[in-house]
Amino acid sequence: MSSIPSDLLQTVRTASSIVVLTGAGVSAESGIPTFRDAMDGLWARFNPEDLATPEAFARDPQLVSQWYDERRCKLAMCKPNPAHLALAQLQRWMREHDRSMTLVTQNIDRLHQEAGSDDVIELHGSLRVWRCTRCEKETDERGPAFETHPPRCSCGGARRPSVVWFGEALPADAITRAQRASVGCRLFMSIGTSGVVYPAAGLIDLARTTGARVLEVNPAVTTASAKADWAIHEPAGAFLPALVQQLMEQAV
Ligand code: OAD
Repeated sequence: MSSIPSDLLQTVRTASSIVVLTGAGVSAESGIPTFRDAMDGLWARFNPEDLATPEAFARDPQLVSQWYDERRCKLAMCKPNPAHLALAQLQRWMREHDRSMTLVTQNIDRLHQEAGSDDVIELHGSLRVWRCTRCEKETDERGPAFETHPPRCSCGGARRPSVVWFGEALPADAITRAQRASVGCRLFMSIGTSGVVYPAAGLIDLARTTGARVLEVNPAVTTASAKADWAIHEPAGAFLPALVQQLMEQAV
């Protein structure tokens, strides 16, 4: 069982507002590969420029559609892990104590929602939602692999995953809400992210420069580690459940 620094526990217990930013690391223990882990990260095995850009889709829509649809189908077998469940429990606890917790994710797997979190800010969209490139119609896709790649809309347009590709703008409302929540929050948690992709990676600085204390949970040292009041180099699936359990025990 992870040991929780007492001053961290006190900060969580008293913070009026908490912002949590998650990255691929929070889903690693659900069996979903991260992007930059040296051996099995997606970007270690694939070139993002070939798959995760509008130019790649224009150049080879079949390849890009197949790659994303394969990841979508693999997602269907993945379940929330204890880290997701702990964050959902923390969000409920904060609400019960009339405090705010904003959960911001860079992930496109919707495992936070499956774990019971709501009002999740998805900065990079969702792999489950596919959008027509002609009429913009969006549909939530939970079925088996598409029969044709790219799948076609009833209007005849090609459909793409509703995720943010490199070179594309983030959903304006999502990044605005995340930035507003980060300014003035009392505690900022950076969970399972390498902190290299902006504007998501800028949220920690917005929080720190307006008075937040920072918790990082990541087995590796990242750029956020030096900015953190607590840099916990453990898996999220171990540390977060221990943190929330001790919070609940003390709150009684
Ligand atoms: P990365 O793959 O860059 O970083 C994942 C982080 O999770 C690494 O720092 C790992 O050390 C850490 N990690 C691994 N296992 C963990 C665990 N069990 N618990 C906690 N941390 C763990 O993924 P992101 O930071 O999410 O964007 O990448 C940000 C963005 O870059 C993604 O949203 C995606 C990618 O390209 C787009 O595709 C637009």
